[in-house]
Amino acid sequence: MRGQHAWGLLLAASAAAGKYIVPGGRWRDTDGELVNAHAGSVGFDEASGKYWLFGEYKVEGQTEGGGVSVYSSEDLATWESHGLALAPIEGHPYIAPSHIIQRPKVVYSSISNEYHMHWHADNSSYGLLLQGYATSPTIQGPYTFANATSPLGNWSQDFGLFTDYKDGRSYALYSNGDSAQGRDVYLSRYDEDAAQLEAVVHRFPKYDLEAPAIVQTERSYYALMSHKTGYRPNNVVAFRADSLAGPWSQPWIVAPLNTRTFSSQSGNTLTVRGSSATTHLYIGDQWDSNSLWESRYIWLPMAIDDERGDLRLEWHDVYDLDVKTGEYTAVDGQTYYGKDAETAGDAYKQEANFASDGVILTGIYGNDSTVTFSGIEGTGKPQWVSFYYQNTDDMGFGDQPGGSPDRIGGSWQLRRISSVIVNGDTEHVETLFQRDTHKGILLSTPLQLTLKEGANNTITVGGLSNGFDFKGADLDRIVVYPPEE
Ligand SMILES: *[C@@H]1O[C@H](CO)[C@@H](O)[C@H](O)[C@H]1NC(C)=O
Ligand SMILES: *[C@@H]1O[C@H](CO)[C@@H](O)[C@H](O)[C@H]1NC(C)=O
Ligand SMILES: *[C@@H]1O[C@H](CO)[C@@H](O)[C@H](O)[C@H]1NC(C)=O
Ligand SMILES: *[C@@H]1O[C@H](CO)[C@@H](O)[C@H](O)[C@H]1NC(C)=O
Ligand SMILES: *[C@@H]1O[C@H](CO)[C@@H](O)[C@H](O)[C@H]1NC(C)=O
Repeated sequence: MRGQHAWGLLLAASAAAGKYIVPGGRWRDTDGELVNAHAGSVGFDEASGKYWLFGEYKVEGQTEGGGVSVYSSEDLATWESHGLALAPIEGHPYIAPSHIIQRPKVVYSSISNEYHMHWHADNSSYGLLLQGYATSPTIQGPYTFANATSPLGNWSQDFGLFTDYKDGRSYALYSNGDSAQGRDVYLSRYDEDAAQLEAVVHRFPKYDLEAPAIVQTERSYYALMSHKTGYRPNNVVAFRADSLAGPWSQPWIVAPLNTRTFSSQSGNTLTVRGSSATTHLYIGDQWDSNSLWESRYIWLPMAIDDERGDLRLEWHDVYDLDVKTGEYTAVDGQTYYGKDAETAGDAYKQEANFASDGVILTGIYGNDSTVTFSGIEGTGKPQWVSFYYQNTDDMGFGDQPGGSPDRIGGSWQLRRISSVIVNGDTEHVETLFQRDTHKGILLSTPLQLTLKEGANNTITVGGLSNGFDFKGADLDRIVVYPPEE
């Protein structure tokens, strides 16, 4: 008998509305607010016929204490906020604003006909290492706290939850704390009610990984996890197995080397099984430790080759996922190259064999050393524009102590910030966050801009302060995408 539905695996009722998924963009909900659901989990709910996203609600200027937010969507691109599914309670022993409520997951139980939320429950010094449990008769909540317990007597830090679509059983994944004794990741089975854990199914030994998630194909299970580098992104790895109990393969790196998983951390996956295709999405976080509340989301299709036992993330600046058919298409844009841009002040074009036409725009600094792309075609409507850049700080920028950068004795900064000005309108300066890449690694980051209709637009890029300097990253090219319908 099916204990619970494998939500997230079923077909949505309505068609895609022509909205795009844009990894790393500032995602706005239907009220125009930033989508605030970090380390989120997303799944399809049969009762409501919608996708639901749960995540950590981050209050501006705070690290923790915001509770769990909830959003719904019919197309995975348009999100409506339903407020907090689990609100912190002043003075509560486990969910006070001073507590840690991280990586929330929700599963429907047909046994109790209610929704069960599980998360990493802790105090502010990570001294409790528990799993929280709350329930609600409706998916959006509010959820009522039930308890916070040690999973089978063990520690639990970064928390994941996976439901097997073949038998409906759910499993918890949890890294076993940060201490030397805690380098394992556990995979444990819930009871049929998805309320309490009943057995450890597998232990990933001594890899010292976190942020675990599982994605399932017809034949395989793939477990994704990141290394432990705090809010700095690193190389996410995957393991493969035929059975959850193993044997599991050796881990491998799932994104191009030196991209630090396109500047993201794993967290969850979502499988869309449509009428003509199945798309597996990586649901990752682009954390911003300087302002956690505006951290971005990196959702990308995964290319899975079960013959080779291989899984890779596929980068697309902008893509269109049809939740009905399960197909996605990369959206084509128009490219404008650095070699055709105009430089001002100390900005200049430098030889770079890895860049387009062998040239990169560098020395972008403050508001007088800028580069300007011109002759850009626009539509008069908001359009996503991707900026392909290189940031060679090696996370060793600034002089503050601590951290563990790619440079001995250095410290780290996650990002530079550039200013982006359309058609010389200095009243409206857009801020472009440019993550550290590596030398010779070009990554892209998007902004939504409104260009005039016609082919006479300019885009000027300068440097803004990231708290240490006014340096903008080096630019290779920009790509302008068509507006959403
Ligand atoms: C968190 O809990 C641990 C274990 O009970 C305790 O030692 C530690 O002092 C607590 N931290 C805070 C900030 O209350
Ligand atoms: C946690 O709460 C559930 C639901 O109230 C209950 O069945 C379970 O026994 C509790 N677990 C512990 C360890 O208290
Ligand atoms: C809990 O973790 C510790 C340390 O990794 C380990 O020695 C112990 O066997 C674990 N307990 C269970 C019930 O798995
Ligand atoms: C240019 O940047 C300087 C700081 O480097 C600042 O004082 C000045 O106001 C800026 N000018 C404009 C027009 O933004
Ligand atoms: C293009 O825009 C500039 C100002 O940004 C203006 O001076 C020029 O006349 C425009 N050219 C055309 C063909 O519209």
